[in-house]
Amino acid sequence: MRASLIRSAAESLRKGGSSSSGNAIRRSYSSDSSPDRKVAILGAAGGIGQPLSLLMKLNPLVSRLSLYDIAGTPGVAADVSHINTRAEVSGYASDEQLGQALEGSDVVIIPAGVPRKPGMTRDDLFNINAGIVKSLCTAISKYCPNAIVNMISNPVNSTVPIAAEVFKKAGTYDEKKLFGVTTLDVLRAKTFYAAKAGVPAADVNVPVIGGHAGITILPLFSQAAPTGNSLSNEDLKALTKRTQDGGTEVLEAKAGKGSATLSMAYAGAIFADACLKGLNGVPDIVECSYVQSTVTDLPFFASKVRLGKNGVEEVLGFGPLSDLEKEGLENLKAELKASIEKGIQFAHAN
Ligand code: LAC
Repeated sequence: MRASLIRSAAESLRKGGSSSSGNAIRRSYSSDSSPDRKVAILGAAGGIGQPLSLLMKLNPLVSRLSLYDIAGTPGVAADVSHINTRAEVSGYASDEQLGQALEGSDVVIIPAGVPRKPGMTRDDLFNINAGIVKSLCTAISKYCPNAIVNMISNPVNSTVPIAAEVFKKAGTYDEKKLFGVTTLDVLRAKTFYAAKAGVPAADVNVPVIGGHAGITILPLFSQAAPTGNSLSNEDLKALTKRTQDGGTEVLEAKAGKGSATLSMAYAGAIFADACLKGLNGVPDIVECSYVQSTVTDLPFFASKVRLGKNGVEEVLGFGPLSDLEKEGLENLKAELKASIEKGIQFAHAN
């Protein structure tokens, strides 16, 4: 039972979340011929970091997995290293080992920082997480300036602009390689839509645009495919709100014991897998992500992105919107703009 669960998780990662045949599973475990890829996780001993470390250890595209945190990573690394998959695992703890953890990385995933407690917004984390992200990105610009960066630390709407400013200052900024991970918003939109519309959760697609906090999260249910039962405007409003408040729903259910960690780790693993496939030249890898963008007048915006050998290959527009979605887009701009500016100001002032 356990083995088959793990197998199907690995399979699902390989396929970007959809199901596949037994042959595909076997192929995924014999893909040592795929290029050497080092993935570093910064914050690997935390609530998201630990399950994310497990999921990346299951990913056959990873040949080296580097687990960094301020403490606790040797234990996490020893633990996952016993799993008989391709990736060689190393654990690094404390500032002195950060350079070693990062050197040679192709993809760096950053879930580091503090999570929300009930009653907090993602922006309430700004004061602590902004500084953490800034110092980690300073190290990235020094030790692996060409790596793809997947930002999970909240508030993502501000931490991505902070990272961009840090990289610009260091002269290493490549807008094609910096991503805010919004995949969990997509997973939530898919799950909630599927239940309401009566379509299989694993097969449905729902783009989510904007940002990664409250009303800045804008699921485009008008583009859901397959469509299933037709939904009323009230249903769509309720689905939109539930998607926007998905993180808060988990926070409240955990009642002070944390925020979304398992689903966030899964989302982070799906997105990192897509980045690795893009790097390896797999065609047509498209995921929603919060990136530097000209799709709207905001400098950073989440939309569908085609991933390739250099990171972003193309930022895709969001297509036609329903009236409800048009209204949502207008309503999110002020908040998203303010969060972006807050990040930029922080990076300049500190
Ligand atoms: C969430 C947090 C992890 O979306 O941002 O639940």
